[in-house]
Amino acid sequence: MKASEIADGVFHLFANIGSEVLFEGIWPMPHGASMNSYVVKGREVAIIDGVCEWDGVPESLYAQLDQIGVKVEDIRYVVINHTEPDHTGWLKSFLTLTHDFEVLVTAKGLELAQAFYGLDVPFRVVKSGDSVDLGNGKQLVFEEIPNVHWPDTMVTFEPSTGSLFCCDAFGTFGALGESPCDDQLDDAQLEFFEREALRYYANIVGRFSQAVNNAIAKVKKLDVRIVAPGHGPIWRRNPDRIISLYERLASYAKGPAKPLVTVLWGSMYGNTEKTVVPLLEGIAEEGVESVVYQVPQSHIGDILASAWESTGIALAMPTYEYQMFPPMAIVLDELGRKQVRGKVALRVGSFGWSGGAQRELGEIIERQKMGWRFLDPVEFRGAPCAENLELIRERGRELARQVRQAALAD
Ligand SMILES: Cc1cc2nc3c(=O)[nH]c(=O)nc-3n(C[C@H](O)[C@H](O)[C@H](O)COP(=O)(O)O)c2cc1C
Ligand SMILES: [Fe+2]
Ligand SMILES: [Fe+2]
Repeated sequence: MKASEIADGVFHLFANIGSEVLFEGIWPMPHGASMNSYVVKGREVAIIDGVCEWDGVPESLYAQLDQIGVKVEDIRYVVINHTEPDHTGWLKSFLTLTHDFEVLVTAKGLELAQAFYGLDVPFRVVKSGDSVDLGNGKQLVFEEIPNVHWPDTMVTFEPSTGSLFCCDAFGTFGALGESPCDDQLDDAQLEFFEREALRYYANIVGRFSQAVNNAIAKVKKLDVRIVAPGHGPIWRRNPDRIISLYERLASYAKGPAKPLVTVLWGSMYGNTEKTVVPLLEGIAEEGVESVVYQVPQSHIGDILASAWESTGIALAMPTYEYQMFPPMAIVLDELGRKQVRGKVALRVGSFGWSGGAQRELGEIIERQKMGWRFLDPVEFRGAPCAENLELIRERGRELARQVRQAALAD
């Protein structure tokens, strides 16, 4: 891992976590993730955010400090934009090395940092508009952006370089190589990180979209020339690219998104499975794209990302013990928790005697306040007949037409 100077006197340090790790103990990261830390050198030195505490990680951060000529004891300020351990875990090790520094943190962040690490060091609670002069023209200005995605969150802005240290806001999954900046990445790599941003957003930040909107409004008042997040690449050629992407992803919280249908299906004995092909054909006949996930075989992290950017959701699942095919109920419940709301939806599926899946679907949608607008369902007993399948194809077409109408323009 190599530190690099991303602007005059501003340095990027980082650690990658690999695909074997589930983020927050839940979310797969097939391409890993980076945890970024930044050093600003004025007359005094500040480090903004850090890395987790895993084996060898704080040590690799110290090695990178060495590369940029900063000794641990030189650090005068530690800025905690956000207390989650992926950014603060290193403090446990750091606190054994030095105490001669000051922590700059929001009031909520201080509460959390003390709960996690028993911070027994000088600290200064900062709020929006406060600043610290590092000397030599370098300044740190703080702006609170609460609830992206924890209540403690703030961004730190360095005016002379226009660097916005924004921690989880504007972050993406995906490990970094030795070239961390957008101007060092080719189009394919940038598109890769944009895809990783979608999964990161839907998995971690999506339900806080209103807070993201508030944060974007605040950030737009600053003269941001470099977006330097806690995860993923640094955006300095085109900082607006990641800010606009976040604006767009936040707008999907209302429901209308891409002209896309996420099809989720699960089946025990193949009766409901038979509906999937006509459903997909119906959607395609209207020129609308779809993405298919089998439940429970697919991971909720991928389903969530797809559902977030879809305007339509099609559900195919049977009844099981008077309720819905259980893994589908779990998926829907998770989509509800993550506030995938306002979608156009269709449900089809098989039952044997009295049914029950349809009723539970209504209960979940209601309980989670999902506000999905459903077309008439197609339920059938046992195996679907040709007529059932034709009706499902037609409903697929209708779903696609409604999705096309409701979707956001590109
Ligand atoms: C374990 C199990 C529990 C079931 N519970 C119900 C039920 O409570 N009510 C009902 O109408 N059908 C019930 N069924 C019948 C299924 O809904 C029916 O067989 C359906 O065709 C299965 O669809 P699939 O082939 O897509 O799995 C149950 C079936 C199984 C195997
Ligand atoms: Fe976080
Ligand atoms: Fe994070």
